[in-house]
Amino acid sequence: MSARGAPPGGGLTNVADLLAAGGPRLAALLERSEARLTEVAAGHGDRLAEHAAGTLAAGGKRLRPTLVFIVAGESVSTELVEAAVAVELLHMATLVHDDVLDRAALRRGRPTVYASGGRSAATATGDLLFSRAFAVLAGAGSAVAVRALSDASSALARGELMQREDAWSSVVTAERYLERCRLKTARLFEAACRLGALLGDPGAGAADALGAYGDRIGLAFQIFDDVLDVSGPQERTGKERGTDLLDGTVTLPLILARERDPRLRDLDLRSEVTDAAQAIALCDEIGATGVLDDAREAALRHVAGAKAELDRVELPSEQRALLELVADGVVERYA
Ligand code: IPE
Ligand code: IPE
Ligand code: MG
Ligand code: MG
Repeated sequence: MSARGAPPGGGLTNVADLLAAGGPRLAALLERSEARLTEVAAGHGDRLAEHAAGTLAAGGKRLRPTLVFIVAGESVSTELVEAAVAVELLHMATLVHDDVLDRAALRRGRPTVYASGGRSAATATGDLLFSRAFAVLAGAGSAVAVRALSDASSALARGELMQREDAWSSVVTAERYLERCRLKTARLFEAACRLGALLGDPGAGAADALGAYGDRIGLAFQIFDDVLDVSGPQERTGKERGTDLLDGTVTLPLILARERDPRLRDLDLRSEVTDAAQAIALCDEIGATGVLDDAREAALRHVAGAKAELDRVELPSEQRALLELVADGVVERYA
């Protein structure tokens, strides 16, 4: 999504449509949030700030702030911008920590903080970004908003822990996988939409429905991200193909492939996938079973579910169209 150094592939394929449809209001809000992000990341004049600013400058789609803005309707308040900035800071914090947990080498087409600065630098950088997120949001002055982000943050931590608990397991069910996706990804999408509703035009009365919309697109987003881990290509995702498999993370493509292929059912990830070449070979094998289409279908069902949640609120037709465009965009992307 970023015009600011987009990752390879340029993010959502329909970003240009989204920005055009969002008009000058969306473009201006994204510009304001970008300036504020730069200011916050740079405000700590040391090595930490360097890593934080590097993560920021590497780009990213800015999907969550975009959601905050679109859900908010016509509002252009400073509180809204601060909330969007807080959501992106929390997202960046979790990515920096996630790359430690996943031992990931590439992020947004660049070496991760973990790869370039080591575990301690990445842990501290993530901590800094976390603390800045809440400081910014607290400054916006809404305790309810702080609570919404804090709930998402706790869910994220539980989701990441659940992922480690299930690492290399051969018995992870699709249901448990989905619960993990909800905790580690969808709850932050939900919070972004709740904040947009609370601080913008829809108001508290619409926060549950719009939060449910966010939850469903978050699920679709993570399922599709897990498909991209298998399908690549790395030049477009900005992340190494097969990172999940190498790291023992069992995602929907592998769960479905195990139901279809006895060799994969009996495969022991921990002992049989120990380097990048083996991970990529397994990606090819999973792809050959045809399950990637099924996983994409699963993501699309959540996209449809997200759109259905919008029936529960009265929204101007242009705003609804934009929200539907975002929902479609989470499964029409490479990065
Ligand atoms: C990556 O999120 C983490 C997941 C939830 C899969 P994004 O794909 O939104 O990351 P950036 O911000 O665009 O880099
Ligand atoms: C999402 O999962 C991570 C967070 C929600 C922090 P992934 O581990 O799949 O995200 P990527 O692929 O590293 O971006
Ligand atoms: Mg990861
Ligand atoms: Mg991933």
